[in-house]
Order: sequence, then structure tokens, then C-alpha cells
Amino acid sequence: MPYEVQGVVARGKGEAVTLETVVVPDPGPGEAVVNVQACGVCHTDLHYREGGINDDFPFLLGHEAAGVVEAVGPGVTEVEPGDYVILNWRAVCGQCRACLRGRPWYCFNTHNATQKMTLADGTALSPALGIGAFLEKTLVAAGQCTKVNPAAKPAVAGLLGCGVMAGLGAAINTGGVTRGDTVAVIGCGGVGNAAIAGAHLAGARTIVAVDVDDRKLEWARGFGATHTVNSRETDPVEAVRELTGGFGADVVIEAVGRPETYKQAFYARDLAGTVVLVGVPTPEMQLELPLLDVFGRGGALKSSWYGDCLPSRDFPMLIDLYLQGRLDLDGFVSETIGLDQVEEAFGKMHRGEVLRSVVVL
Ligand SMILES: NC(=O)c1ccc[n+]([C@@H]2O[C@H](COP(=O)([O-])OP(=O)(O)OC[C@H]3O[C@@H](n4cnc5c(N)ncnc54)[C@H](O)[C@@H]3O)[C@@H](O)[C@H]2O)c1
Ligand SMILES: [Zn+2]
Ligand SMILES: [Zn+2]
Repeated sequence: MPYEVQGVVARGKGEAVTLETVVVPDPGPGEAVVNVQACGVCHTDLHYREGGINDDFPFLLGHEAAGVVEAVGPGVTEVEPGDYVILNWRAVCGQCRACLRGRPWYCFNTHNATQKMTLADGTALSPALGIGAFLEKTLVAAGQCTKVNPAAKPAVAGLLGCGVMAGLGAAINTGGVTRGDTVAVIGCGGVGNAAIAGAHLAGARTIVAVDVDDRKLEWARGFGATHTVNSRETDPVEAVRELTGGFGADVVIEAVGRPETYKQAFYARDLAGTVVLVGVPTPEMQLELPLLDVFGRGGALKSSWYGDCLPSRDFPMLIDLYLQGRLDLDGFVSETIGLDQVEEAFGKMHRGEVLRSVVVL
């Protein structure tokens, strides 16, 4: 019997989201239905709502979630009903050219559920990042469920499902930050602050947080920033150089997703350093850089999808570090809200009042 549950839907570009009845089919082969317990509000949900990702409205929003598996379809062996899981938006296939080369975090053929969730009138919904978890129960590919220690509460665990994992991984996996490195992070929302937490965890010696909002910079100190720069008042490139012996940082992480902040990241890095772009740009954005500088400064310009994470490897490990008190995930939860407060939470995110609003069901 299909389930009828309440979920948050974006019907059109820029329109306020609404709470709608959503029909969730029973899980088919390779699929699972999950009772969502918590789901964070990520900037990417707002990008979807603004039409910045694509035009496949109506979207079923929410993708940063944890919950308990309710039912699985035929052939599912990874998880069973009752398992406590974090949902991931990159269930690797194991067979594409990236997976076969032993680099599954680049998998080019990640899985989502095959069946569609719909509105009551049968209109098919596009789930954000193939998840759609501002919803009491959601349908995903079984591989999108990663089992973790149930001692971590859902509001915290769910954050690893997107933004916090993206930031931690941008530093640790993509940027390869290691003991003794100097690091700068531009944009200290949920993602950027997670990059700071990741750099701290990895043993970076200097961590410079850059933002235009002093509240974000204060939070950044709590996650391990050794210095903060408000780039409305101070040239961030100059400041990062000054704080790193005049050279620039070994790794600069851009967590805004704009050409001007990317340029700052590019020039705030030391020769042969690494830039990691984890912020998501919109389709009309263009970047212009002197090609000679791209060549002459050497190093690596990388992008980070989901922090180049491998959910099965990284989620249980990070939850263990959290439970041991070595990774502050609680600090990212600014407030918990109901399903009917997502639109309000977008406003708070836009005004910079929160790191993460988390819907708790
Ligand atoms: N690559 C991925 O896998 C991935 C995953 C999740 C989110 N993201 C993206 O990461 C970005 C950040 O997400 P978030 O949830 O942290 O958003 P957020 O809105 O919470 O944070 C953005 C931060 O950037 C700051 N900012 C804005 N303009 C700035 C400027 N000119 N200079 C310095 N700081 C500036 C804001 O004050 C804010 O603190 C978004 O683009 C989001 O879509 C990427
Ligand atoms: Zn693959
Ligand atoms: Zn996200």
C-alpha cells in the first residue's frame, strides 16, 4: 500500500514552498522507504527553489537527513527495516569507470529510486538530489542509506548527509589538508564552518575564516578558526597572506560559489597550493583569470562534490568521532523546526541568522 504523507514542495521558480500531501510508493527492487526523523535546511534547497539547479518543478525539497528504514524492496541486502541510517545523495554503482578504477567517490552513475513520488493528483515530483526528505517517509535507492551508530541523534547525524560532509570532505578529502598546513576558508555558513572543523581535525596549524558577516566569523572560531577576516572591511587576499608569513595558504576552500570569491581563493593561496571550490555557482556565472597566473602559480584547482566522500567509509567514522567528542556536530544545529517552517528557515539562512535549521519529525 502506498503511503500518503506530508512533504515540502517547491511548485515554481521563486514561489514560497508549500506543505503538500505526497504519495510514496512501496519500495520496489533495490529501493527502501525511510521514516525521516530529521532533515537540515541546506542552501542547495534554496538553489532548487530559485530555479538555480534546473527547471524540473515541482521539487520535493530536503536532502540532509537521518531516519529509520521502514521497508525494503526485493533484492535489498544493504539494509533492513529498523536500521538507523543517514541518507546520502551518491549511492555508488560499483561498475562505472571511476568505480572500477578504485575511485568510487567519483562514481559517474550514482543511483536513486526508480519509482516516482507524486502529488495526490499524480504529478511526479523531482526529489532534491534524488532524496526529498522534508517528508515523513521518503523513497530512495537502498544504497542511499548508510548505517551509523544510533547513539547520535537524528538532528545531528542528518547533517552529514550533505552540507557538513561537503565541508569536512572539501578540507580532508579534496583539499588533503594535513598536520601543519595553513588553510583559509571563504564563506563560513554550514559548509564553510564544516571545512574549518575538518581542517582543525586534520591538524592544520593556521585556519583563517573569511566571511562578510561577523556572526559567522564568531561561530568559525568555535569550530577551530585561528584567525577571522571580515572581507567587507579588509582585503581577504592581503589578510591571508599576512597571516601566512606573506605567502598565502596551502589550501584555500571557497564555500560561497561566486566568481569574486573564487578569485580571492585563487590569489590567497601559496604557490603550488590548492584551491577547492565547494560553493555551487549558478549557470550564468563566468570566471576570468589571467591564464599566465593559472600556469605560473602552479598547484591544483579542484572542485568538491559532496566532499569527495564515500558514505560507507566516512559517515560511520565521523559519527564515531562525534560520539567520542572529537568533532563538534551539535554546533551546526542553530535551531530545530517543524515541516511547516522551511520557508521561514530560508529567510533566516538568507539573512545569515543560522548555520543550520533542522526539521525534526
Ligand atoms: N559541493 C557540494 O557538494 C555542496 C554541498 C552542499 C552545499 N553546497 C554549496 O555550498 C555553498 C554554501 O552552502 P551553505 O549551506 O553553507 O550556505 P550559507 O548560506 O549558510 O553560507 C554561505 C556563507 O557565505 C557568506 N558569504 C556570502 N557572500 C560572501 C562573500 N562575498 N564573501 C565571503 N563570504 C560570503 C555568507 O555570509 C554565509 O556565511 C552553497 O553554494 C551551497 O549550494 C555545496
Ligand atoms: Zn560508479
Ligand atoms: Zn545540501
